[in-house]
Amino acid sequence: MTGADATAPVGVGPWDGPLPAGDHWDPALLAGGDRRNVADHYRYWRHDAIVADLDTRRHDFHVAVENWAHDFNIGSVIRTANAFNAKAFHIVGRRRWNRRGAMVTDRYQHEHHHPSVADLVEWAATAGTSDEQGRARGIPLIGIDNLPGSVPLETYDLPRECVLVFGQEGPGLSQEMREACVAVLDIAQFGSTRSINAGAAAAIAMHAWVRRHVFDQPVGS
Ligand SMILES: C[S@@+](CC[C@H](N)C(=O)[O-])C[C@H]1O[C@@H](n2cnc3c(N)ncnc32)[C@H](O)[C@@H]1O
Repeated sequence: MTGADATAPVGVGPWDGPLPAGDHWDPALLAGGDRRNVADHYRYWRHDAIVADLDTRRHDFHVAVENWAHDFNIGSVIRTANAFNAKAFHIVGRRRWNRRGAMVTDRYQHEHHHPSVADLVEWAATAGTSDEQGRARGIPLIGIDNLPGSVPLETYDLPRECVLVFGQEGPGLSQEMREACVAVLDIAQFGSTRSINAGAAAAIAMHAWVRRHVFDQPVGS
């Protein structure tokens, strides 16, 4: 038995058989094949049709990443935000960020840029669902970092509406961001390294939200 052909093209070739009817199909992809990094059920769909479909069932958590030094991990965080269908992602600091690790997944999400922590705080204060008087409740910022005063993610009851905020390689969350968060949560570690990669931490934190709010797993289980 031979191994997988590493040179084989990914995705699917041109549509085989009579062309399907429907606005969501992309004529160019049907004709030429679909080599994009998309789930099988979105093969041959138009890009805007995929975004519109995701919009019908986005989750109630947002993801924010501080970007003061073009951390290469940001792309990985954003790719995971796509996989878990975050409501939107927020880049705090420099507008330009290293997109390579996102593998184009950012194009299927809603991106917000905040030049400062204060701008994110201002946005969050008026975002989210409204109360009985029609006033926005605001969305709490939840820092994810292993810092003095942080509490375990594993036993924290993540709110349904929240912004999960990640820091950068090296310094982690800025002091200003730490103070803006209602809580900072750490992920338990058992080895010798100070921290895990921000992309890995983001995946764990988003999955914790999914366990709690999609699968309704009690906290700490
Ligand atoms: C490489 S860490 C850097 C900072 C870290 N506070 C330190 O003391 O070295 C970069 C980012 O990854 C995330 N991170 C890494 N390890 C984590 C952990 N054990 N718990 C929570 N977040 C973590 C945080 O968002 C953090 O800001």
